[in-house]
Amino acid sequence: MVAQFRMTPDILSDAVWRQVFSEIEAEVPAMRASIQSVFAACEAIRGQMDVKTGSISTASATALYALVRHVKPRTVFEIGTFIGKSTLSMAKAMDAAGIDGTIFTCDGSNAFLVPVQETKAKIVGYPKTMSTEALRQVADTGAKIDFMHLDGRMNDEDMEIIAQIADPRVVVAIDDFEAAEKGVINFARMRKHPFFAKHVLVNPPRTTLCRELDFISTSTTAVMAPLTSFAFVAQPFW
Ligand SMILES: C[S@@+](CC[C@H](N)C(=O)[O-])C[C@H]1O[C@@H](n2cnc3c(N)ncnc32)[C@H](O)[C@@H]1O
Repeated sequence: MVAQFRMTPDILSDAVWRQVFSEIEAEVPAMRASIQSVFAACEAIRGQMDVKTGSISTASATALYALVRHVKPRTVFEIGTFIGKSTLSMAKAMDAAGIDGTIFTCDGSNAFLVPVQETKAKIVGYPKTMSTEALRQVADTGAKIDFMHLDGRMNDEDMEIIAQIADPRVVVAIDDFEAAEKGVINFARMRKHPFFAKHVLVNPPRTTLCRELDFISTSTTAVMAPLTSFAFVAQPFW
C-alpha cells in the first residue's frame, strides 16, 4: 500500500495566505495607509476611463501586496490596468521590499492614467493595447517575467508568448477566481499548457481569514505557484 496525503487548492489556500499575511504583519498599519492613499488617487481618474468597469477590493489589494512582498519579483506583467489599484498595490510592495523592478501593464480599452507618482517602482503602461500586443512588445525588450497579475481575459496566443518569456518559476495571481468568472477561464487556459504542468493552484483567501484580518471586503485572488516553491519545514519562520 502507498500512503498518499492529498493537498487540495483549498488546503493550500490556508497554508499560503496565512504565511504571506503573517510575513507582513509588522507593516500592516503602514501598508493600509499606503493602500488607502493609492486607492483615493486611483479613484480620482475613474471618470476619465473610456470603458468603466470594476476594480479590485481592499482585501485583494492586500493579498497582491503580501504575495509580491513574498515573491520579490523584478519583472511583473499585468493584464488589465484600468484605474491602477492592482498595479500600485504591487508597486508599493516592491517599494517596501526595496526591489528596483518593473511592472508592465496593459489595458485594451483604456488610456494609461495610473498615478505613478505614488510609487518608486518603474511602471510601463501599454494603453489601449491588448495583452497579445503588449506581451510581444515586452518580449522585444528581452525581459523575463517572474510575476503576473491577470485581471483581464487572456487568450491562447498570450499563453504561447508567456511560455517563451516567463521564468519557469513564475508566480501568477489570478483575479476573479470564482464561479464562471474570467479568473476561472484564465486558469483553465493556463492549466492545459505544458508550461504550467508543474504549477499548482492556490484558492483565494477564505472569507473567514479576511475577517480575521479585519477586512469587510473579500478577495477573489487565486495563485498559480510552481511546485518547487513548496517546502516541508519544522517552523514557519526563518
Ligand atoms: C477588472 S478591470 C481591471 C481592474 C484593475 N486591475 C484595477 O485594479 O483597477 C479589467 C480591465 O482589463 C481590460 N482587459 C480585459 N482583457 C484584456 C486583454 N486581453 N488585454 C488588455 N486589457 C484587457 C479591460 O479593458 C478592463 O479595463
